[in-house]
Amino acid sequence: MTASEAPFATGFAISKKSKVSSYTNQANPRFYPNFPELFKLLCSRIPAKLCRLVYNFASTIINCLRFCAVWLAMGSITIKTEEDIKGMRIAGRLAAEVLDFIAPHVKPGITTGELDRLCHDYMTNVQGCVPAPLNYCPPGYTPFPKSICTSVNDVVCHGIPGDKVLKSGDVVNIDITVIKDGYHGDTSRMFFVGEPSILAKRLAEITYDCMWLGISKIKPGAHLGDIGHVIQQYAEKAGYSVVREFCGHGIGKVFHEEPQVLHYGRPGTLDKLVPGMIFTVEPMINAGKRDIREMGDGWTIKTKDRSLSAQWEHTVLVTETGYEVLTVSAGMPPPPAFITGAGASSTVTA
Ligand code: MF3
Ligand code: CO
Ligand code: CO
Repeated sequence: MTASEAPFATGFAISKKSKVSSYTNQANPRFYPNFPELFKLLCSRIPAKLCRLVYNFASTIINCLRFCAVWLAMGSITIKTEEDIKGMRIAGRLAAEVLDFIAPHVKPGITTGELDRLCHDYMTNVQGCVPAPLNYCPPGYTPFPKSICTSVNDVVCHGIPGDKVLKSGDVVNIDITVIKDGYHGDTSRMFFVGEPSILAKRLAEITYDCMWLGISKIKPGAHLGDIGHVIQQYAEKAGYSVVREFCGHGIGKVFHEEPQVLHYGRPGTLDKLVPGMIFTVEPMINAGKRDIREMGDGWTIKTKDRSLSAQWEHTVLVTETGYEVLTVSAGMPPPPAFITGAGASSTVTA
C-alpha cells in the first residue's frame, strides 16, 4: 500500500553511518552494555540458523511496533491552514515543472536511470527541492534507492530507475514528488516513447479521463466514495480494470497521510470532503485484469497478467466551492473538454 506512515515519510538521507560510528566511539563497555558486541557474543554461541531466526523474529516485532506507532499517530485528516496552502501551491507547481523539464528527454535510447539523474539534478540544483522518494522507507519496506519512479509498460507503479533502455512503443509513467520548505507536491504523467500502439494510447487516455472525472467530483459535502465510483465506472465500461492495492492519499508536510483515496467504490460512502483538505487522485488502470504482483526488489509492482498499466496523478485542494489542482505548470496537458466546460467554480489553470 502507499498507506500512511507519517513519521517515516521525510525522505531525507539521514546519515545512519555517523550515528553508528559515534555510538561505537562513545560506547564504553565498562559503563554501558555494548549491544552490538553482546549480540555478536550471543551469536557465536548459538548455531547460525537459530541466530537468523532470532534476528528475523526481532525484525518482525520491530516492524509491527513501527506500524502500530504510525497507525496511532494518524487516524485523522488534517485541514490545511492558509500558510500550508501557500506552501503546497509552491511544492505542487515545482513537482509539475519537473515533468515539464523531463518531457523532451523521454525518447528511444535513454535509460530510466538517466531520467532519474536528470530529474534529481534539476530538483536539487535548479529548484532547491528535496526529492521525496530518495531513501523513503515506509514500515516493512527497504529504502527507495532513487529520486523518481519510472513505471514502464506492465509496471503499475513504483518502478525503480536503472539500466533499462527505453525503446519506441514503450509507455512510461514518471512520478515526481518534491519537498519544498517542508511541503510535498506529488504528480505523475504518462509519456509515449516514439509511437505508441493504439491500445497504449487508448489506455493512457481513458486513465487520464478517469483521473479528471474523479477530480471533478471534489467539492465540500461530496464523499471520497464519489471519486472512486466515477473512476471505476468509467474504467470498467472501457473494458479495463482498477488496481485496488494502491490508492491516492492525503499529503502536506507528510508524504502519505490520511485519507486513503480509493479509485473504486460507491457514491455517498467514506469521508465527507471539507475545505482545506489536500489529497492526491492517482488511478492505476490495467488493460487486463486488476491483479498485481510485487517484484523481488521490494518496490516494483507489475500486472499479474503482464497487461499494460497506466497512471496519472494530481495533488488537489478542496476549496469552498469545488477544488483547486495544485500540481499545475505551463507544460501540463490540458484537462479534458468535460472539465473546461463545467469547472466554473474550480481552478485548474497554470
Ligand atoms: N509518488 C508515489 C505516490 O504517488 C509514491 C512513491 S513512493 C516511492 O504516492 F518511494 F516509491 F517513491
Ligand atoms: Co501520490
Ligand atoms: Co506520486
